[in-house]
Amino acid sequence: MDRGDGMRLVLHLRELHALADAERAAGRRIALVPTMGALHAGHASLCELARRHADRVWVSIFVNPAQFDDPGDLERYPRDLAGDLERCRRAGVDLVFAPDVAELYPPGAQTWVEVGELSRGLCGASRPGHFRGVATVVAKLLLAAKPHVAVFGAKDFQQLAVVRRLARDLCLDVEIVGAPIVREADGLALSSRNARLDPRSRREALCLSRALDAAERAVAAGERSTARLLALARSELAGARGAELDYAELRDPETLAPAGEALVGPALLALAVRFRTPDAAVRLIDNRVLVPEAPERVAPAREA
Ligand code: PAJ
Repeated sequence: MDRGDGMRLVLHLRELHALADAERAAGRRIALVPTMGALHAGHASLCELARRHADRVWVSIFVNPAQFDDPGDLERYPRDLAGDLERCRRAGVDLVFAPDVAELYPPGAQTWVEVGELSRGLCGASRPGHFRGVATVVAKLLLAAKPHVAVFGAKDFQQLAVVRRLARDLCLDVEIVGAPIVREADGLALSSRNARLDPRSRREALCLSRALDAAERAVAAGERSTARLLALARSELAGARGAELDYAELRDPETLAPAGEALVGPALLALAVRFRTPDAAVRLIDNRVLVPEAPERVAPAREA
Protein backbone atom coordinates (compact mmCIF):
# COMPACT_ATOMS: atom_id res chain seq x y z
CA MET A 1 0.00 0.00 0.00
CA ASP A 2 1.58 3.33 -1.10
CA ARG A 3 0.54 6.10 1.27
CA GLY A 4 0.78 8.82 -1.39
CA ASP A 5 3.73 10.46 0.34
CA GLY A 6 6.13 7.84 -1.01
CA MET A 7 6.08 5.80 2.19
CA ARG A 8 4.73 2.33 1.81
CA LEU A 9 2.86 0.35 4.45
CA VAL A 10 3.29 -3.41 4.06
CA LEU A 11 1.30 -5.90 6.10
CA HIS A 12 2.18 -9.19 4.41
CA LEU A 13 5.38 -11.17 3.98
CA ARG A 14 4.69 -12.00 0.35
CA GLU A 15 4.66 -8.30 -0.59
CA LEU A 16 7.74 -7.59 1.51
CA HIS A 17 9.71 -10.40 -0.14
CA ALA A 18 8.81 -9.10 -3.60
CA LEU A 19 9.80 -5.52 -2.73
CA ALA A 20 13.09 -6.66 -1.19
CA ASP A 21 13.88 -8.69 -4.31
CA ALA A 22 13.05 -5.71 -6.55
CA GLU A 23 15.27 -3.30 -4.56
CA ARG A 24 18.13 -5.77 -4.59
CA ALA A 25 17.71 -6.45 -8.33
CA ALA A 26 17.90 -2.68 -8.93
CA GLY A 27 21.17 -2.60 -6.99
CA ARG A 28 19.75 -0.60 -4.08
CA ARG A 29 20.81 -1.16 -0.49
CA ILE A 30 18.16 -1.75 2.18
CA ALA A 31 18.58 -0.84 5.86
CA LEU A 32 16.10 -2.31 8.33
CA VAL A 33 15.26 -0.75 11.71
CA PRO A 34 13.29 -3.29 13.77
CA THR A 35 11.01 -1.72 16.41
CA MET A 36 7.97 -2.48 18.51
CA GLY A 37 6.42 0.91 17.72
CA ALA A 38 5.60 3.69 20.21
CA LEU A 39 8.32 5.48 18.31
CA HIS A 40 10.39 8.26 19.86
CA ALA A 41 13.53 10.26 19.04
CA GLY A 42 15.72 7.22 19.85
CA HIS A 43 14.07 5.26 17.04
CA ALA A 44 14.33 8.30 14.73
CA SER A 45 18.09 8.44 15.34
CA LEU A 46 18.33 4.80 14.26
CA CYS A 47 16.54 5.73 11.02
CA GLU A 48 18.99 8.58 10.43
CA LEU A 49 21.93 6.25 10.92
CA ALA A 50 20.25 3.68 8.65
CA ARG A 51 20.00 6.32 5.91
CA ARG A 52 23.78 6.75 5.98
CA HIS A 53 24.20 3.04 5.22
CA ALA A 54 21.56 2.44 2.56
CA ASP A 55 19.34 3.78 -0.23
CA ARG A 56 16.14 2.55 1.39
CA VAL A 57 15.19 2.78 5.08
CA TRP A 58 12.64 0.22 6.19
CA VAL A 59 11.14 0.13 9.67
CA SER A 60 9.32 -2.86 11.12
CA ILE A 61 6.68 -2.26 13.77
CA PHE A 62 5.71 -5.44 15.57
CA VAL A 63 4.96 -5.94 19.25
CA ASN A 64 6.49 -9.38 19.54
CA PRO A 65 4.51 -11.51 22.02
CA ALA A 66 7.32 -14.09 22.22
CA GLN A 67 9.69 -11.71 24.00
CA PHE A 68 7.31 -10.72 26.82
CA ASP A 69 7.70 -12.87 29.91
CA ASP A 70 4.87 -11.00 31.63
CA PRO A 71 1.45 -11.05 29.88
CA GLY A 72 0.46 -7.83 31.70
CA ASP A 73 3.49 -6.07 30.24
CA LEU A 74 2.51 -7.21 26.74
CA GLU A 75 -1.06 -5.99 27.25
CA ARG A 76 0.07 -2.60 28.53
CA TYR A 77 2.71 -2.10 25.83
CA PRO A 78 1.83 1.24 24.12
CA ARG A 79 0.42 0.85 20.60
CA ASP A 80 -0.17 3.77 18.22
CA LEU A 81 0.20 2.70 14.58
CA ALA A 82 -1.26 5.92 13.15
CA GLY A 83 1.12 8.08 15.22
CA ASP A 84 4.04 5.80 14.39
CA LEU A 85 3.36 6.00 10.66
CA GLU A 86 3.34 9.78 10.90
CA ARG A 87 6.66 9.74 12.78
CA CYS A 88 8.15 7.40 10.17
CA ARG A 89 6.95 9.65 7.38
CA ARG A 90 8.60 12.66 9.06
CA ALA A 91 11.81 10.64 9.52
CA GLY A 92 11.91 9.98 5.75
CA VAL A 93 11.29 6.23 6.10
CA ASP A 94 10.57 4.51 2.77
CA LEU A 95 8.62 1.51 4.00
CA VAL A 96 6.94 0.33 7.20
CA PHE A 97 6.35 -3.37 7.72
CA ALA A 98 3.61 -3.89 10.30
CA PRO A 99 2.51 -7.53 10.18
CA ASP A 100 0.02 -9.10 12.54
CA VAL A 101 1.03 -11.92 14.87
CA ALA A 102 -0.18 -14.75 12.62
CA GLU A 103 1.95 -13.43 9.77
CA LEU A 104 5.20 -13.87 11.72
CA TYR A 105 4.08 -16.82 13.87
CA PRO A 106 1.99 -19.00 11.55
CA PRO A 107 -0.37 -21.38 13.35
CA GLY A 108 1.62 -24.33 14.70
CA ALA A 109 4.92 -22.39 14.72
CA GLN A 110 7.56 -24.37 16.60
CA THR A 111 10.89 -23.00 15.43
CA TRP A 112 12.94 -20.91 17.84
CA VAL A 113 16.29 -19.21 17.74
CA GLU A 114 18.25 -19.39 20.95
CA VAL A 115 21.55 -17.58 21.46
CA GLY A 116 23.24 -19.45 24.34
CA GLU A 117 25.61 -17.83 26.79
CA LEU A 118 24.95 -14.20 25.77
CA SER A 119 21.25 -14.56 26.59
CA ARG A 120 21.89 -15.63 30.16
CA GLY A 121 22.50 -13.13 32.95
CA LEU A 122 21.67 -9.41 33.02
CA CYS A 123 18.19 -8.95 31.45
CA GLY A 124 18.07 -12.65 30.56
CA ALA A 125 18.17 -13.58 34.25
CA SER A 126 15.15 -11.51 35.25
CA ARG A 127 13.24 -12.03 31.99
CA PRO A 128 13.25 -15.77 31.23
CA GLY A 129 12.71 -16.52 27.54
CA HIS A 130 13.02 -12.86 26.58
CA PHE A 131 16.08 -13.20 24.35
CA ARG A 132 14.77 -16.36 22.74
CA GLY A 133 11.77 -14.28 21.66
CA VAL A 134 13.97 -11.39 20.50
CA ALA A 135 16.40 -13.66 18.60
CA THR A 136 13.54 -15.53 16.93
CA VAL A 137 11.69 -12.44 15.74
CA VAL A 138 14.87 -10.66 14.63
CA ALA A 139 15.90 -13.72 12.59
CA LYS A 140 12.43 -13.77 10.99
CA LEU A 141 12.59 -10.04 10.20
CA LEU A 142 16.07 -10.30 8.70
CA LEU A 143 15.01 -13.23 6.53
CA ALA A 144 11.80 -11.47 5.51
CA ALA A 145 13.15 -8.01 4.66
CA LYS A 146 16.51 -9.21 3.28
CA PRO A 147 18.29 -6.01 4.36
CA HIS A 148 21.97 -5.31 3.70
CA VAL A 149 22.18 -3.53 7.07
CA ALA A 150 20.11 -3.67 10.26
CA VAL A 151 20.37 -1.00 12.96
CA PHE A 152 19.94 -1.62 16.70
CA GLY A 153 20.39 0.74 19.65
CA ALA A 154 23.14 0.38 22.24
CA LYS A 155 20.45 1.25 24.80
CA ASP A 156 19.62 -2.48 24.73
CA PHE A 157 23.26 -3.51 24.88
CA GLN A 158 22.70 -7.20 25.56
CA GLN A 159 20.14 -7.36 22.74
CA LEU A 160 22.70 -5.81 20.35
CA ALA A 161 25.26 -8.44 21.41
CA VAL A 162 22.69 -11.24 20.96
CA VAL A 163 21.71 -9.97 17.50
CA ARG A 164 25.35 -9.64 16.35
CA ARG A 165 25.96 -13.21 17.52
CA LEU A 166 22.87 -14.66 15.85
CA ALA A 167 23.69 -12.95 12.52
CA ARG A 168 27.16 -14.53 12.64
CA ASP A 169 25.99 -17.92 13.87
CA LEU A 170 23.18 -18.21 11.30
CA CYS A 171 25.57 -17.11 8.51
CA LEU A 172 23.28 -14.23 7.55
CA ASP A 173 24.47 -11.82 4.87
CA VAL A 174 23.68 -8.68 6.87
CA GLU A 175 25.73 -6.02 8.64
CA ILE A 176 24.55 -5.24 12.18
CA VAL A 177 25.11 -1.60 13.09
CA GLY A 178 24.93 -0.31 16.67
CA ALA A 179 23.57 3.19 17.39
CA PRO A 180 24.37 5.41 20.41
CA ILE A 181 21.84 5.95 23.23
CA VAL A 182 19.58 8.98 22.81
CA ARG A 183 18.71 10.77 26.08
CA GLU A 184 16.31 13.40 27.36
CA ALA A 185 17.93 16.74 28.19
CA ASP A 186 18.15 15.68 31.85
CA GLY A 187 19.95 12.42 31.04
CA LEU A 188 17.16 9.83 31.11
CA ALA A 189 17.57 7.38 28.22
CA LEU A 190 14.54 7.53 25.92
CA SER A 191 12.31 4.47 26.20
CA SER A 192 8.75 3.63 25.25
CA ARG A 193 8.34 2.61 28.89
CA ASN A 194 9.13 6.10 30.26
CA ALA A 195 5.55 7.12 29.48
CA ARG A 196 4.38 4.71 32.18
CA LEU A 197 6.36 6.43 34.95
CA ASP A 198 4.39 8.59 37.38
CA PRO A 199 5.89 12.06 38.02
CA ARG A 200 7.78 10.95 41.14
CA SER A 201 9.30 7.86 39.47
CA ARG A 202 10.18 9.98 36.44
CA ARG A 203 12.27 12.24 38.72
CA GLU A 204 13.82 9.31 40.58
CA ALA A 205 14.62 7.52 37.29
CA LEU A 206 17.53 9.93 36.88
CA CYS A 207 19.38 7.69 39.34
CA LEU A 208 20.35 5.53 36.35
CA SER A 209 22.22 8.23 34.41
CA ARG A 210 23.59 9.63 37.69
CA ALA A 211 25.04 6.22 38.55
CA LEU A 212 26.65 5.97 35.09
CA ASP A 213 28.05 9.51 35.36
CA ALA A 214 29.44 8.84 38.85
CA ALA A 215 31.19 5.66 37.71
CA GLU A 216 32.54 7.37 34.61
CA ARG A 217 33.92 10.25 36.69
CA ALA A 218 35.50 7.80 39.12
CA VAL A 219 37.21 5.94 36.27
CA ALA A 220 38.46 9.25 34.84
CA ALA A 221 39.87 10.06 38.30
CA GLY A 222 41.80 6.79 38.28
CA GLU A 223 39.47 4.31 40.05
CA ARG A 224 40.02 0.81 38.62
CA SER A 225 38.45 -1.42 41.29
CA THR A 226 35.39 -3.21 39.91
CA ALA A 227 33.99 -3.67 43.43
CA ARG A 228 34.31 0.04 44.29
CA LEU A 229 32.84 1.15 40.95
CA LEU A 230 29.87 -1.15 41.42
CA ALA A 231 29.41 0.01 45.01
CA LEU A 232 29.38 3.60 43.77
CA ALA A 233 26.78 2.88 41.09
CA ARG A 234 24.64 0.85 43.49
CA SER A 235 24.68 3.60 46.11
CA GLU A 236 23.35 6.10 43.53
CA LEU A 237 20.54 3.67 42.67
CA ALA A 238 19.82 2.95 46.33
CA GLY A 239 19.42 6.70 46.93
CA ALA A 240 16.39 6.85 44.62
CA ARG A 241 13.02 6.47 46.33
CA GLY A 242 10.94 3.59 45.00
CA ALA A 243 13.74 2.15 42.84
CA GLU A 244 14.30 -1.58 43.30
CA LEU A 245 17.65 -2.76 42.03
CA ASP A 246 17.43 -5.53 39.44
CA TYR A 247 21.14 -5.55 38.59
CA ALA A 248 24.23 -3.37 38.42
CA GLU A 249 27.10 -5.18 36.74
CA LEU A 250 30.40 -4.60 35.02
CA ARG A 251 30.90 -6.82 31.99
CA ASP A 252 33.21 -7.33 29.06
CA PRO A 253 31.57 -5.28 26.24
CA GLU A 254 32.12 -8.06 23.67
CA THR A 255 31.48 -11.31 25.50
CA LEU A 256 29.40 -9.90 28.40
CA ALA A 257 31.54 -12.04 30.74
CA PRO A 258 31.94 -10.49 34.23
CA ALA A 259 34.78 -7.95 34.41
CA GLY A 260 37.86 -8.89 36.42
CA GLU A 261 38.72 -7.36 39.80
CA ALA A 262 40.40 -4.37 38.17
CA LEU A 263 39.50 -2.58 34.95
CA VAL A 264 42.26 -3.01 32.43
CA GLY A 265 40.26 -2.10 29.32
CA PRO A 266 36.77 -0.94 28.34
CA ALA A 267 34.01 -2.38 30.55
CA LEU A 268 30.26 -2.22 30.19
CA LEU A 269 28.42 -0.85 33.24
CA ALA A 270 24.89 -2.23 32.83
CA LEU A 271 22.03 -1.21 35.13
CA ALA A 272 18.40 -2.23 35.57
CA VAL A 273 15.93 -0.92 38.16
CA ARG A 274 12.24 -1.42 38.70
CA PHE A 275 9.87 1.36 39.78
CA ARG A 276 6.56 0.50 41.36
CA THR A 277 4.10 3.15 40.24
CA PRO A 278 0.47 3.18 41.41
CA ASP A 279 -0.50 1.39 38.14
CA ALA A 280 2.37 -0.89 37.28
CA ALA A 281 5.96 -1.95 37.78
CA VAL A 282 8.17 -0.25 35.22
CA ARG A 283 11.60 -1.70 34.56
CA LEU A 284 14.23 0.65 33.15
CA ILE A 285 17.68 -0.20 31.83
CA ASP A 286 20.70 1.91 30.96
CA ASN A 287 24.38 1.35 30.31
CA ARG A 288 27.68 2.92 29.40
CA VAL A 289 31.03 1.58 28.32
CA LEU A 290 33.64 2.84 30.79
CA VAL A 291 37.00 3.36 29.15
CA PRO A 292 40.01 3.62 31.43
CA GLU A 293 42.62 5.88 29.86
CA ALA A 294 46.10 4.39 29.74
CA PRO A 295 48.18 6.09 32.46
CA GLU A 296 50.12 8.98 30.98
CA ARG A 297 53.62 7.93 30.23
CA VAL A 298 56.03 9.60 32.57
CA ALA A 299 58.69 11.33 30.56
CA PRO A 300 62.06 9.82 31.34
CA ALA A 301 64.18 12.13 33.45
CA ARG A 302 66.81 13.88 31.39
CA GLU A 303 70.29 12.88 32.13
CA ALA A 304 72.26 15.66 33.73
P1 PAJ B 1 12.10 -1.31 20.73
O1 PAJ B 1 12.14 -1.28 22.22
O2 PAJ B 1 10.96 -0.63 20.04
O3 PAJ B 1 13.44 -0.69 20.22
C1 PAJ B 1 13.73 -0.65 18.84
C2 PAJ B 1 15.17 -0.21 18.67
O4 PAJ B 1 15.33 1.11 19.19
C3 PAJ B 1 16.16 -1.10 19.46
O5 PAJ B 1 17.29 -1.38 18.66
C4 PAJ B 1 16.51 -0.23 20.65
O6 PAJ B 1 17.80 -0.51 21.18
C5 PAJ B 1 16.45 1.15 20.04
N1 PAJ B 1 16.28 2.20 21.07
C6 PAJ B 1 15.32 2.26 22.02
N2 PAJ B 1 15.53 3.32 22.83
C7 PAJ B 1 16.65 3.94 22.36
C8 PAJ B 1 17.40 5.09 22.78
N3 PAJ B 1 17.04 5.82 23.82
N4 PAJ B 1 18.51 5.41 22.06
C9 PAJ B 1 18.90 4.65 20.99
N5 PAJ B 1 18.24 3.56 20.57
C10 PAJ B 1 17.13 3.21 21.24
O7 PAJ B 1 14.17 -3.43 20.99
C11 PAJ B 1 13.08 -3.74 20.51
O8 PAJ B 1 12.11 -2.83 20.21
C12 PAJ B 1 12.71 -5.19 20.21
O9 PAJ B 1 13.31 -6.03 21.14
C13 PAJ B 1 13.05 -5.62 18.74
C14 PAJ B 1 14.55 -5.55 18.47
C15 PAJ B 1 12.29 -4.75 17.74
C16 PAJ B 1 12.61 -7.10 18.55
O10 PAJ B 1 11.26 -7.25 18.81
